[in-house]
Amino acid sequence: MKLNQYIYNVNYQVQEEDLCALEIRSLFNFHLEGKVFFSSKEVEPSISPFLKTRLKIIYKTSSFSDIIELIKKDKITSQDFVVKYLELFSGDPYIKKRKELCKEIGLVVEGFPSFTSPKTTFGISFYKGSWYFGILVANNSEWKAHNTKPYSYSSSIGINIAKVLLNIAGNGDFSKRLVDPCCGVGTVLLEGFFAGYDIRGWEIMSKVAEHARANLLHFNYLPKVTTGDIQDIGESFDASIIDLPYGNFCPTNVDNQVKIIKNAKRISKKLVLVSCEDITHQILREKLKITDCCKISKNEKGSFYRYIWVCE
Ligand SMILES: C[S@@+](CC[C@H](N)C(=O)[O-])C[C@H]1O[C@@H](n2cnc3c(N)ncnc32)[C@H](O)[C@@H]1O
Repeated sequence: MKLNQYIYNVNYQVQEEDLCALEIRSLFNFHLEGKVFFSSKEVEPSISPFLKTRLKIIYKTSSFSDIIELIKKDKITSQDFVVKYLELFSGDPYIKKRKELCKEIGLVVEGFPSFTSPKTTFGISFYKGSWYFGILVANNSEWKAHNTKPYSYSSSIGINIAKVLLNIAGNGDFSKRLVDPCCGVGTVLLEGFFAGYDIRGWEIMSKVAEHARANLLHFNYLPKVTTGDIQDIGESFDASIIDLPYGNFCPTNVDNQVKIIKNAKRISKKLVLVSCEDITHQILREKLKITDCCKISKNEKGSFYRYIWVCE
């Protein structure tokens, strides 16, 4: 086992399975099967709505006592640490003993534990017949506070989808320049700034653009939103994320939709489009290649919600 391996686990509601799989393909470049996977890529769980934890593996052994011996031999030292048991599958036979196991490890790590404000969290886990010990990072869920943004419309995109769109567009690479040229009240921008992406927004309706700025300022992010039409954007970006206009409150018609897709192609190499209907023919007409896509349901009953199209 290479030491730069991580164990990730994900969680999602039934109707979000395809959305989660699309995000994992975009971040880790492989198709997700199950809810636990190994990768050598380091991704901060909080940029995703689905990544629950990341364990950076320090030891993999066949017995728990070997972990204890290795910690002692290597004199693993930490100040203000805590040890947590990471349950990776239901029916884990060691879950009932988790407190004793964590305590046993805590006693052999050199340094002082801190249960209230730990600086390091060690994780111990049993998975598929092996024991894993390492540094555990959990999704901090702080982004859920964005649900209380001052301005939101019933048509605003959900926060989980917004996070996934960013990871599809940026692939977890924060050096990429992203744009949301039809940003509405800035749902995608908020998640972009939270994750650390370099992202800008444009919005044609001045009142809506003002609301996007107010939402960003509310969470202490720079209000990088320009009031304007996508056709006036002169800069270039690595990827654009576009929740296409629809419904009563948006300037929406087929011509505007075609104009938006044409201009998105002009200003960005990659397009991540969200639509309420199948727009395959419009995408292909613009000579774009669909590299991935996904249909999202709103609830477990599968009532239809939106499509996501990844194009280049
Ligand atoms: C579906 S809404 C986006 C909602 C956004 N994702 C949110 O969560 O608030 C589409 C937005 O595109 C804007 N829009 C429509 N045509 C545009 C254009 N040509 N250039 C820029 N923005 C445009 C609309 O005013 C609307 O706010």
